[in-house]
Amino acid sequence: MTRVLPASPDSLAEAAGLLDRGSLVAFPTETVYGLGGDATDDKAVASIFAAKGRPSFNPLITHLPDLETAGNFALFNDPAFDLAEAFWPGPLTLVLKRLPQCRLSDLVSAGLDTVALRVPAHPLARDLLRSANVPVAAPSANRSGHVSPTTADHVLSEFTEDQIAAILDGGPCRVGVESTVVDVSGAQPTLLRPGGLAVEDIQRVCGPLAKAGEGEAPRSPGMLSRHYAPGKPLRLNAGAPRPGEAFLSFGGLPGTMNLSVSGDPIEAAANLFAMLRELDAGGFARIAVAPVPDTGLGAAINDRLRRAATPVEDAAPLDDWPEACGAAMPCLAITDPYDDGD
Ligand code: TXA
Ligand code: MG
Repeated sequence: MTRVLPASPDSLAEAAGLLDRGSLVAFPTETVYGLGGDATDDKAVASIFAAKGRPSFNPLITHLPDLETAGNFALFNDPAFDLAEAFWPGPLTLVLKRLPQCRLSDLVSAGLDTVALRVPAHPLARDLLRSANVPVAAPSANRSGHVSPTTADHVLSEFTEDQIAAILDGGPCRVGVESTVVDVSGAQPTLLRPGGLAVEDIQRVCGPLAKAGEGEAPRSPGMLSRHYAPGKPLRLNAGAPRPGEAFLSFGGLPGTMNLSVSGDPIEAAANLFAMLRELDAGGFARIAVAPVPDTGLGAAINDRLRRAATPVEDAAPLDDWPEACGAAMPCLAITDPYDDGD
């Protein structure tokens, strides 16, 4: 049984211990319940994606107890610092440049050089984040395509016991909609997702926000140009490497690196971005990737590999992918430009 833990010092110690050991724990924030896992542990982050059943990897928010801790992971420029000072703890998520020494999983950033950080205001969330020795990656604790949960019961109905170890019960969420996401990694702060903190309040602190889709700004968090792609050409569904190619293998095939020797898609997802980065930095001219079965997290792996194999200039917006890639392409129907389908 997934344990539903009441708010108490014992529960907090138990939940923090589970997170430290790589298990998933759902916990309340002032916006919605989050499905938490150790943000430095590729395997824990991969199991979050597996539990959500999402057919692609959207980068996740990493939750921290305070601004000082957040400074260990990402670069705070002036607008970032001003916004964090004004609104943390609270329903604001900042997308920031990762520091070179950042210990967070590449999967948490979906391979990007940015990371989304947030200091939630819910007292139980803050206690949990202080007790855990790790930063906590947490998307909303719902299965993909379902609405975000605002009570422990909602969360319980979303997942099976082998997916999450425990749910910390903090009663209903005060805000009830997800945090507002602002990208402060570029020249002008940009609104990526409206949410629990009003845009007017944000603009009073940092001036006008660009809207996703205007000028250089990404149209939505799901926009292709935001996705990680290695600098080297990528060849998919390769049975063997050609001369000059690094071979990223899967299962029994020998390769330069292997996503998962045992053919486990969760292990492969955990390794995907870190291995692509390593091969990209290595001495080979191109990268060939072995076929990965399209089941479980394999669908998300193949989604990202297909995007990474397409030069960004040629990339179609997400909505155009079914025609561009054929019916097998797992695809999100995004109608609202701010809706990441998650
Ligand atoms: O209120 C909330 O924000 C809740 C609670 C649990 O904190 N969390 C939540 O997480 O809604 P999630 O994963 O469902 O939404 C994260 C949003 C997505 O729109 C994602 O695309 C965006 O943040 N995001 C995360 N990292 C990003 C990055 N590096 N660049 C651009 N967008 C990013
Ligand atoms: Mg969500």
